[in-house]
Amino acid sequence: MCGVVGILLKTGNAVPDVIEGLSRLEYRGYDSAGVLTINNQNFQKVRAVGKLESLKNELRSAPLSGAIAIGHTRWATHGGVTIDNAHPHESGRVAIVHNGIIENHRYLKKLVQDQGYQCTTDTDTEVIAHLIDYYLRLGNEHHIAVQKTLNQLEGTFSIVAVFKDRPSLMIGARHGSPLAFSVSEHGSFIASDAIALSLWSNHVCYLEDKDMIIIDDHKVVVLDEHGQPIERPFKNISHLNLHSDKLGYSHYMLKEIFEQPQVVHDTFSSLLNDDESDIKLDARLESILMSAKRIKIVACGTSYYAGLLCQYWMEAYGHMGVDVEIASEFRYRQPYLGDTDLAILISQSGETIDTLASLDLLKSQNIPTLGIVNVLESSLMRRSDFYIQTLAGTEVSVASTKAFSAQITVLLALVFKKIEPSDRELKIKKFLNIPKHMNCVLDQFDDIMKLCNPLIQSKDVIYMARGMNTPIAFEGALKLKELSYINAQGYPAGELKHGPIALIDESLYAVVIAPSNDCLPKTLSNVQEILARGGKVILVTDHHSKIDSINPYPQHIYRLPDCDAIFQPFLTVMIMQMLAFGVANLKGQDVDQPRNLAKSVTVE
Ligand code: AGP
Repeated sequence: MCGVVGILLKTGNAVPDVIEGLSRLEYRGYDSAGVLTINNQNFQKVRAVGKLESLKNELRSAPLSGAIAIGHTRWATHGGVTIDNAHPHESGRVAIVHNGIIENHRYLKKLVQDQGYQCTTDTDTEVIAHLIDYYLRLGNEHHIAVQKTLNQLEGTFSIVAVFKDRPSLMIGARHGSPLAFSVSEHGSFIASDAIALSLWSNHVCYLEDKDMIIIDDHKVVVLDEHGQPIERPFKNISHLNLHSDKLGYSHYMLKEIFEQPQVVHDTFSSLLNDDESDIKLDARLESILMSAKRIKIVACGTSYYAGLLCQYWMEAYGHMGVDVEIASEFRYRQPYLGDTDLAILISQSGETIDTLASLDLLKSQNIPTLGIVNVLESSLMRRSDFYIQTLAGTEVSVASTKAFSAQITVLLALVFKKIEPSDRELKIKKFLNIPKHMNCVLDQFDDIMKLCNPLIQSKDVIYMARGMNTPIAFEGALKLKELSYINAQGYPAGELKHGPIALIDESLYAVVIAPSNDCLPKTLSNVQEILARGGKVILVTDHHSKIDSINPYPQHIYRLPDCDAIFQPFLTVMIMQMLAFGVANLKGQDVDQPRNLAKSVTVE
């Protein structure tokens, strides 16, 4: 997924603003970046491979200046990470930046080559620029040339285009990838999302799919998919903590880990009625939920693990059937939905393409859809029948932490809705104390960091648990993988003897979550099986578990603060997050922007 910015100022140099905007979007992709402006009817551009800092360095030696500028931060989909493939891309009179994938780009590339265009990059984006220029040469007006081009594209895109012969004209278009704009007394701004636009205005307008925005000499017109002018509403985003500042933490991820108690409190409080005795939902959603016998949860990555945890909770306490699906599988496997009363789609970004495609599939079969989403005005939020916003605030670090805690907070609130009112009120009261317990875990950050050293040299790490900590073991493995690049795999502990035990030798580390519950003895047997074969164990348990019988003893033990078993995942997941953070940091990895990853996977 990439970040796009386009700025037309009334006076002054737009390039520094574009760079500032890109810095707010870098979490969307960061393998190369570029900026372009127009002077004396000529394009001037600077591009660089690497993070945005590389582009800033280039600009220090080759500064650009102009009242209009477009910029791009890239996460490579088509074509390697090279200067030539970095955006912006130009052809004749037009230059563009693009987020998305053009699925018929090979066909279009042939088309433009037949018209004499030389394709010099490996990107799909280049063909968009050639096509627009082609239609300009045929004498079309600029926005008609853009529209004719877009009509030929298949796939997802958001683009911003500028024209050397019209230095006060900027055209943006949205089709499947988010795009928004704002205006102020200084000029007009287009960007991939509100995080960038909040630099220049608290009022943002989110384009709908197939909208086109034409900014011509500061006059702004939005055209809908039929080419008709349309007024899209502006949203006030001043209340969103969109600021992306580390607030003194070494990394965004660490800040976001430490924000979790507050995020859980804020998200849960937003769902409570006035006397905190009940969960308040949209009336129609509540009616569907209360009568539902079976729900389906669909998501990707960390959000999928939130859904898995909900399955444990909802089936045990809500006495309702729950299926949890990986979106990229669900959307293609022709699922049977005859007994699905409600579908819940979970997504931090609200733009994950497989989750959105699953939403469309579910809606096509008239299944009521609830989106649990963090980013305001995201596609999932706007296209679901119902939505609940997680109040995690902007999650800048690519590895999801506070968004996960906020997601499971919403899911637990839905579980509470399904239990007896008297029991519900009691559980609500108990849960209101959980942020305090989470803070106790955070207070032991230094102790947890001590557990990280042994993992640094590991080639393989397995994570294991039983019951509702099993999804947390999966999430812990994902965190370690994506942050430290160590191969890590989560297993239900009961699966150890069904294959994974073959992995065990002196080089293997296991992180085992085993609080004192009726599964503890069985999990301790698994711990014993690992230790007996020379494997090493980091055991996460509590103060009540009897583990003296284990021989040899686990290398490291972390004991959780006391809390009801149902709430333990809120504590154990933070230990997983801190472990992954500590190992990656000790290995000197880029914690906030791990290699190859993007914050939201808006392409298949
Ligand atoms: C989480 O640490 C990962 N970055 C990734 O698995 C993420 O959870 C997944 O891509 C889903 O993203 P979404 O929640 O925005 O849909």
